[in-house]
Amino acid sequence: MGMVMVVTILVLLSLLLKLAYQTISCYWLTPLRIKKIMEMQGVGGPKPRFFSGNILDMASLVSKTTSHDMKTISHDIVGRLLPHFLLWSSQYGKRFVYWNGTEPRLCLTETELIKEFLSKCSTVSGRSWQQRQGSKHFIGGGLLMANAQDWYHQRHIVAPAFAGDRLKGYAGHMVECTKEMLQLLQNALDSGRNEVEIGEYMTKLTADIISRTEFGTSYQKGKKIFHLLKVLQTRCAQASRHLCLPGSRYFPSKYNREIKSLKMEVERLLMEIIQSRKDCVEIGRSESYGNDLLGMLLNEMEKKNSLDLQLVMDECKTFFFAGHETTALLLTWTVMLLASNPSWQQKVRDEIKSICSDSGIPSFHQLSKLTLLHMVINESMRLYPPALVLPRMAFEDILLGDLYIPKGLSIWIPVLAIHHSEKLWGKDANQFNPDRFTSKSYTPGRFLPFASGPRNCVGQAFALMEAKIILAMLISRYSFTISENYHHAPVVVLTIKPKYGVQVCLKPLET
Ligand code: HEM
Repeated sequence: MGMVMVVTILVLLSLLLKLAYQTISCYWLTPLRIKKIMEMQGVGGPKPRFFSGNILDMASLVSKTTSHDMKTISHDIVGRLLPHFLLWSSQYGKRFVYWNGTEPRLCLTETELIKEFLSKCSTVSGRSWQQRQGSKHFIGGGLLMANAQDWYHQRHIVAPAFAGDRLKGYAGHMVECTKEMLQLLQNALDSGRNEVEIGEYMTKLTADIISRTEFGTSYQKGKKIFHLLKVLQTRCAQASRHLCLPGSRYFPSKYNREIKSLKMEVERLLMEIIQSRKDCVEIGRSESYGNDLLGMLLNEMEKKNSLDLQLVMDECKTFFFAGHETTALLLTWTVMLLASNPSWQQKVRDEIKSICSDSGIPSFHQLSKLTLLHMVINESMRLYPPALVLPRMAFEDILLGDLYIPKGLSIWIPVLAIHHSEKLWGKDANQFNPDRFTSKSYTPGRFLPFASGPRNCVGQAFALMEAKIILAMLISRYSFTISENYHHAPVVVLTIKPKYGVQVCLKPLET
C-alpha cells in the first residue's frame, strides 16, 4: 500500500514538474530565446512588462489618440489608429519586436520581405495559439483559423465555391438583395427623411447576401443565427483580453459560461438547417444537398468523408464572419469618400451610365469594364483597409532575405501604415486620389487589402463583384452628399470602423 502511494506521489510530482517546465518554457524561456536571436540581428524594441508585455502601452496610446473625433475629414489616420507603430518605428527603425502579452511580435514593413513571406510561407506560418484560442468558440477550426495541412485541405475544398461559374451564379442574388436595400432607402425618403446612416444599410445588405450564398434562404431565416454570432463575436473579443493569464480559459467566469451557451445555440440552429437538408435527400425530395455553400460542403462531406459536421458548421460561421462585415465596411467608407468628393462621384456615375443599361444594373460581363469604379474601390481599401494588420506565426525557422525568423515568433504586417506610407505612395499618400490606380504596375507588397499569396482572401473576387454591383446600383439611383451630422472618427474594433456611422443626404436621380 505504502509503495503504491509513493509511486503515485512520484508520478504526480513528475507530471507537475513537466507541466511547470512547459509553462515556464512557453511563457518565458522560448520568448526570451527569440528576443535574444532578434537582438543579435540588430532588431530591438520596447521593453516588455511581466506577463502583459506591451499591451498596456498600446492600449493607453490608442485610447489617447482616439479620445476625440477628427476635426476634418482627413485620411491621415495612422497616428490615430496605430500610434504605437509610429512611436516604435521612429525609435527602433523599420524592424522591431514588441510584446503582445508573452508573445513576441516582429513588425515587418519591407515590401520585398512581405512579398516573399506571403508567397512562400503559407504552410510554415499561420494562426497563433492565442488567435485560435480567442476564436475557438466563435468560428472554431474553419478556414480562417486553420493551420498547415488542415488549412491546405480546407482551402482546396472551399476555393471552388468562389471561382468561375459559381461566382457568376451569385450575381443574380446580389442584384436582388441590393434592390431590396434600395427599396428600404426609398421608404426612408418617402417617409420624409433625406438623411440616412448608410453603414446600417450596408451591414444588413452584406449579411443578406452572404446568408443567401451560404444557405440559399433569405436573411430572415438566418437572422437568428447571425444575431447570435454577433453577440458571440463580442463576447469572445472581451474574453480574449483576459487570455494572457495561463489557464484563464478554464475559469468558470461569466464570459466563459455565456460563450458556451451562445455557441451551443448557434450550432443547434445550424444543425436544424443541416438536418432538414439531409431529410430532403433521404426521402428523395432532392438529389443533392444544394448548390449553395452549405450544400457544397455537405456534398463534399458525403462524397469523400473528408469533413466532419463540426467543420461544416465552423466553415459556415467563418464565412459569415469573414465575408460580411469587411465588405460592409468597404462599402460604407467608399460611400463616405464619394459623398465628400462629388467630382469622382459624378465620373463614376457617368461610367456606369455609359457601360450599363439605364437601369444601372451591371451584368457579370460589364463588371470588368467599370474601371473607374474599380479604381475608387481600390483607393478606398488603400485608405481604409478593413483588415488593418495581418498577423501570422512562424511554425518553423524561416529565412527571409537577410532576416532569420525563429520558430515561435509572431509576424505582424501593419497594412494600414504601409498603405499610407509616403515613401511607397508619394507625398499625397494621405489624399483620396483614385488616379494612382490607373496603372496596374505598382510595387507588389505595398497594396494588401486582401493579403497576397496562397493564403490571401479566398472571397476576394466575391467581395469585389459584390461591391461593384451594390455601388453601381446605388450611384446610378441617387446622388449623395456628406451630412453635417457626420463626425469623422475612425476607430479599430477588429476592423476600421466609423465610430458614429456615416450619415449621408440622398437625392433621387431622374432615370
Ligand atoms: C472587402 C472585403 C474583404 C476584405 C478586405 C477581406 C480581407 C481579407 C484578408 C486581409 C484576409 C487575410 C487575413 C490573414 O491572413 O490574416 C482574408 C482572408 C479570408 N477571407 Fe476575406 N476579405 C473580404 C471579404 C471576404 C468575403 C466576401 C469572404 C467570403 C465570402 C471572405 C472570406 C475570407 C476567408 C475564408 C479568409 C481566410 C482565407 C485563408 O486563410 O485561406 N473574405 N480576407
